[in-house]
Amino acid sequence: MKKVLVLTGAGISAESGLKTFRDSDGLWENYNVYDVATPQAWTKNPALVQEFYNKRRQQCATAKPNNGHLALADLEKDFEVQIITQNVDDLHEKAGSSNILHLHGELTKARSSKDEKLIYDVRDKEIKMGDLCEKGSQLRPHIVWFGEMVPNIEIAQEMMHEADYLFIIGTSLNVYPAAGLVHFVPAHCQTFLIDPNDCPAGNISNLTILKEGAGTGVPKAIKIIREKV
Ligand code: OAD
Repeated sequence: MKKVLVLTGAGISAESGLKTFRDSDGLWENYNVYDVATPQAWTKNPALVQEFYNKRRQQCATAKPNNGHLALADLEKDFEVQIITQNVDDLHEKAGSSNILHLHGELTKARSSKDEKLIYDVRDKEIKMGDLCEKGSQLRPHIVWFGEMVPNIEIAQEMMHEADYLFIIGTSLNVYPAAGLVHFVPAHCQTFLIDPNDCPAGNISNLTILKEGAGTGVPKAIKIIREKV
C-alpha cells in the first residue's frame, strides 16, 4: 500500500467551529497567546492558563469532525495513512483515524508540571489548581507551549521519509519545528497543499495547491490520488 503522510493545522478544524490561531485580530479566542501558552505565563498566572485550557477542552468536547477529518479516516481503506497534527483537539480521533501523532500535545490529557512523563487522561474534565500528579506536583495541560521542546518531532521527521504523498492541510507553516517537516519527504513524493488562503509553500517540489477549505479540498486531493492507484 502507498503511504500518505498528512500534516494538519488549525485550519482543518475551522469548519468544526474551532478558531485558528492567526485570525486577523491577533488574539486566540480573545486571549493574547503569550498570556496563556508559554512557560512564563504558567509561572506568572497558572490559574489563568488553566482557565483558558479548561475552556478550550470544553469547546472541543462538543465539536464534531468535519468532511476533511472524515475523508482522511476513510482513506485508510486504500492507503496507509499517518496523520501528524499540530492540533490539540481530538477531531482526527473522533473521525476514526488510526495513526495520529500529536506534535503540540492533547487537550484531553493532563501532565505533571514536574515530570513530563507522568501523563493522565482527563477527557472533558477541568484541571484545577490543587489537582496533583502521583508524586504530588500540580497538574498542567498536556500542551507544548511556545518556547518548549517538541518531543515528537524526531519521530515525525522519520515518518516523513516514507511518504509517497504528503497532504498539508490548514496550517500557516509559521511555527517551527513543525513547519520544517515538509522538507523531509523523499524526492518522489507528491505534495498537496489545502488552504483557502495564500500560504508559504516555499520551495516544496512536486506541489499541487488546492486553494479551498478542508471540507472540499481534502476529498479532491483524495480523488486525485485514488485515480492513480
Ligand atoms: P494558523 O492559525 O497559523 O493557520 C491556520 C491556517 O488554516 C491558515 O493558513 C488558514 O488560511 C487556514 N484555514 C482557515 N480556514 C480553513 C479551512 N476551512 N480549511 C483549511 N484551512 C483553513 O494555525 P497553525 O498553522 O495550526 O501551537 O498554527 C501552528 C501552531 O501555532 C499551533 O499548533 C499552535 C499555534 O500557536 C501551539 O499551541 C503550541
